[in-house]
Amino acid sequence: MKVTPLDAPLGARITGIDLRETPDEALAAEIRAIVHEYSVTIFPDQTFNAKQQLAFTKSLGPVRKRKLPDDYVSPASSYETPGIAYVSNIRDENGEPTGVIPDGEMWFHHDTCYTDEPDKFTMLYSIAVPKVGGNTMWGNMYQAWDTLPEDLKKEIHGKNALNVYDYATIDKPDLENLENIEKAWQPCVVTHPQNGREALFVNRLMTCQIEGLSVEDSSPILDSIFDHAEQRQFVYEHQWSVGDFVIWDNLAVTHARTHFEIGDDRRLRRSKVSGDKLVA
Ligand SMILES: [Fe+2]
Repeated sequence: MKVTPLDAPLGARITGIDLRETPDEALAAEIRAIVHEYSVTIFPDQTFNAKQQLAFTKSLGPVRKRKLPDDYVSPASSYETPGIAYVSNIRDENGEPTGVIPDGEMWFHHDTCYTDEPDKFTMLYSIAVPKVGGNTMWGNMYQAWDTLPEDLKKEIHGKNALNVYDYATIDKPDLENLENIEKAWQPCVVTHPQNGREALFVNRLMTCQIEGLSVEDSSPILDSIFDHAEQRQFVYEHQWSVGDFVIWDNLAVTHARTHFEIGDDRRLRRSKVSGDKLVA
């Protein structure tokens, strides 16, 4: 296995490994350590099926199987293998998307930060790449926290924030009506259990309110923090190639995707390792 750090604020490219062969515990530990060190790891030119991806995911830790809201209608093919979902804008014969979060730009977020135990690792395997756009961006939240101006640090350090996600929209949810929407209070700054480093754990898509402040008073503070954290100096933007497999550390980075056209096929196979309760 060869690890080549990217010329970017995070990330490494890993070659010399075939992920069809499920790693033994020693190799899995090595891969986990590399993901923790670089936060985003890209394994190019992989060819594996859903079963092999699931076996690989399992070797890194317990596979996240999403409990979705009762009224959630999952796209037909998306959850046919428990633990695997397709992020896809490809339509079936009725014009319905065959995967989750099908279309367009998506703001920066941490996966499932609106649940009590956010995901540890997210993995995406690229099957179809749009001709234009649909890139994934990751933001280095260690650096974002380290460089945050002191006055903003004081507003959030040691506090929790409310994280909310409404599956019905890719925008902020309606805060007046949170009854049937998943939500969780999480530390604004987390201490990473693997290295003891502090990382910013708020994001534009899902974080709505700082503990002890109203939504109105929280908004300008959070917006300033998001503007800081999303600066290009902290971000790596990845243009996908078919066969790319990416693993990222969901406590260390946020991610977002850039715009692409609705008819421009984009399809990724996603799996996750579930996480634990976060520590401030
Ligand atoms: Fe995500």
